[in-house]
Amino acid sequence: MVNVLFVCLGNICRSPMADGVFQQMVKDAGLDDKIIVDSAGTSRYHIGEKAHAGTLKILKEHGIDFRGRARQLTTNDLRLFDYVLAMDQSNLSNIQAMTVADDEKASVSLFLQYAYDEGLVSVLEVPDPYYNNRFDAVYDLVHKGSQALLKHIRDEHKL
Ligand code: 4NP
Repeated sequence: MVNVLFVCLGNICRSPMADGVFQQMVKDAGLDDKIIVDSAGTSRYHIGEKAHAGTLKILKEHGIDFRGRARQLTTNDLRLFDYVLAMDQSNLSNIQAMTVADDEKASVSLFLQYAYDEGLVSVLEVPDPYYNNRFDAVYDLVHKGSQALLKHIRDEHKL
């Protein structure tokens, strides 16, 4: 089993979008019995809340019914998950500051690193739509990022 966790600040905009999109891609590839997908936020701001209306709307437009509730990232997540994908550099720094023994630790990276390395995107950070409402731009990045991530995981795990 491969465990994948998307992380942003609030776990209501970007990481739930990636959670929903990636989960759908995994299902479409027939890999939902091999890859487990979840998301979390580095902050406590929105614990227990549904995803932002902008995220739910764009997911629905793409046929994805997302039911997750926001939760905060824990050090245990860094032990349980194989891949922890940060939406921006600030999230990445916050995750890296959490102390977990190196030999127990997930692979922690920027979510868009894989898509960037493949030339699918020209930025490494998913911009926060919380203040500018650009959920469409976020969806585009999340979709490309998910395609490249799934390809990487399939290659690495021979799936
Ligand atoms: P997210 O967006 O990290 O993509 O879920 C945000 C959600 C809430 C806040 C900031 C960003 N906030 O400051 O409450």
